[in-house]
Order: sequence, then structure tokens, then C-alpha cells
Amino acid sequence: MSAVLKQAPQLMPMVTADLDAVLAIEQAVYTHPWTRGNFADSLRAGYQCWTWRLGSELVGYFVLLAAAGEAHLLNLSIAESRWRRGHGAALLREAMRVALGLGATDIFLEVRPSNLAGKALYERFGFKKIAQRRGYYPAHQGREDALVLSCRL
Ligand SMILES: CC(C)(COP(=O)(O)OP(=O)(O)OC[C@H]1O[C@@H](n2cnc3c(N)ncnc32)[C@H](O)[C@@H]1OP(=O)(O)O)[C@@H](O)C(=O)NCCC(=O)NCCS
Repeated sequence: MSAVLKQAPQLMPMVTADLDAVLAIEQAVYTHPWTRGNFADSLRAGYQCWTWRLGSELVGYFVLLAAAGEAHLLNLSIAESRWRRGHGAALLREAMRVALGLGATDIFLEVRPSNLAGKALYERFGFKKIAQRRGYYPAHQGREDALVLSCRL
């Protein structure tokens, strides 16, 4: 048997001390990243802010708001060095489990039409487009629409 044990990823609450590592990922994977203030506000507001860790390495995180039977997934990101290894799918599954545990029956999110990886991930989980918000996101030139996707939990 191999002496090297594969580490299982762990879901852990995000705390203020995580924000440097969170921002390093955020700034690397988005053209228009959230700011430190956006994350600090989410923590202060009591949103569901969770990290995904392999040992001491923070490899991803999500921020989710659940209220009145609905959950809104505001951010879900994986460090680029860890893409295409199943972490995004595993973390989305955790976000849906957290939402369900808080009494949500449906989960919503916005994604850029140009975000092929994000769209493919959400489609794989059965998310369907329910609306398109015109000019929702800042873009390099002008604005980009958002697709609003939802899925029954
Ligand atoms: C979207 C994201 C979370 C996917 O993370 P990941 O760990 O690479 O995802 P997984 O390895 O679990 O892949 C799950 C599925 O997502 C889809 N997917 C992921 N990356 C993809 C890519 N580059 N192109 C096409 N489909 C992709 C596939 O359907 C994949 O399933 P498969 O591997 O069986 O084909 C990651 O690319 C990321 O953090 N991107 C930047 C932030 C972001 O866009 N977040 C979501 C938008 S709100």
C-alpha cells in the first residue's frame, strides 16, 4: 500500500484570517474580482461563507445567502492550480447541502455567458436558465449580461 495518503478535502467556515488566501484566488480567477470589503461584509452580515481545504491549503470557497426558502449562491471559486479535479463539483454539492439544511427549496445564481466552465458545471447539476439580466456585470468593454440560473434542491 502507498505510504502517501490522499487528503480528503474539508469544508470549514471562512474567517477573517482566511481573507488573504481567499483574495489571492479571487484576484487570479476573475476579471472583476470581489474586494476584501465584499468578503468582510458577507462575513459580517452572517452569509454562509465556507472554505474548501486540503490540509492547510485553501483551494476554494463559496458565499451563499439563504432566506425565505430560497438560496442565492453569490460566489463559488476554486484555485486555478486545482481546476479540473472535481473540487468545483464537490464544493457546489456542499453549497447545495448547506442551502437545503437552511430550509431552502431552490437555489439561484448569476453567471456570465462567457464563463464556459461555470456554465458547464451548473448545467451538469441541473441548473436551468430562468432569466437574463442585461448589462449586469462590468466587462473590459462596457458591460456583460448575467444568466440567472436556478435549480430545485
Ligand atoms: C467553475 C469552477 C468552479 C470549476 O471548478 P473545477 O474544480 O475545475 O470543476 P470540476 O473539476 O469539479 O469540474 C466539474 C464540471 O465543471 C465543468 N467544467 C469545469 N471546468 C471546465 C472547463 N474549463 N471547460 C468546460 N467545462 C468545465 C465540467 O462539466 C466538469 O465536469 P467534467 O470534469 O466531468 O467534464 C472553476 O473553473 C472556477 O473557480 N472558475 C472561476 C470562478 C468561477 O467562474 N466560478 C463560477 C462562476 S459564478
